[in-house]
Amino acid sequence: MIRSENLRSGYIQDDVEEYIYKLLPDRDPVVKEMEDYAEEHDIPIIGPAVARLLALLVQASDAKRIFEMGSAIGYSTVWLARAAGTKGRVFYSDGDPEKAKRAEVYFRMAGVAKRVEVQVGDALGLVRKTSGKFDLIFIDVDKQQYPAALHAALPKLQRGGLLIADNTLWSGKAARPAGEGDKETKGIQEFNRLVYTSKDLYPVLIPLRDGVTVCRKM
Ligand SMILES: C[S@@+](CC[C@H](N)C(=O)[O-])C[C@H]1O[C@@H](n2cnc3c(N)ncnc32)[C@H](O)[C@@H]1O
Repeated sequence: MIRSENLRSGYIQDDVEEYIYKLLPDRDPVVKEMEDYAEEHDIPIIGPAVARLLALLVQASDAKRIFEMGSAIGYSTVWLARAAGTKGRVFYSDGDPEKAKRAEVYFRMAGVAKRVEVQVGDALGLVRKTSGKFDLIFIDVDKQQYPAALHAALPKLQRGGLLIADNTLWSGKAARPAGEGDKETKGIQEFNRLVYTSKDLYPVLIPLRDGVTVCRKM
């Protein structure tokens, strides 16, 4: 069952989307609590279908140093940190200190606090100033910022590393002309254009939930 309306894609047929979610195994109590909290407080999270994709990509690529831009209550962070294992290091970033406080509680409950570094502030500035390069960078900030987030993240990604962005179909609006004032749709469209025309990236846009773009840095 789709637990929360904000997990619906808006472009996948309802019965097909329900089918995808019904296939998913039950989550552990901590992740379930985070899903409940997100639903009750209307906090957008990637949800379990996309979270599994992230976890799979971390494991398949053996990513250990991971930067997340836009982490909210840390739902996606927990999936990334668990997939990266005890040698993993995941940099959480969010502009909202209250969400960061709650995320820290969940990291302790989920047993990943030691491998997560919490940073509060502008994720674009934080990714630039955090030392070293990353094996994987996940972008989930405000959608009008996606082109700028890409510019900030790309120099910080290892060659062969993965850049992943959520919401790249934006309820299907990415496929249609954006309204004059619709900065979010325009931001997503420009991001998609940039990654598909970049000579440094090999992107694939996966129409899972709200669209997930996975790019390998060449
Ligand atoms: C969609 S939510 C992130 C959800 C999270 N990735 C998950 O799936 O659990 C977006 C978050 O990005 C944060 N945000 C938006 N723009 C930001 C920026 N420029 N710097 C830091 N945080 C930002 C918001 O405060 C919000 O909590």
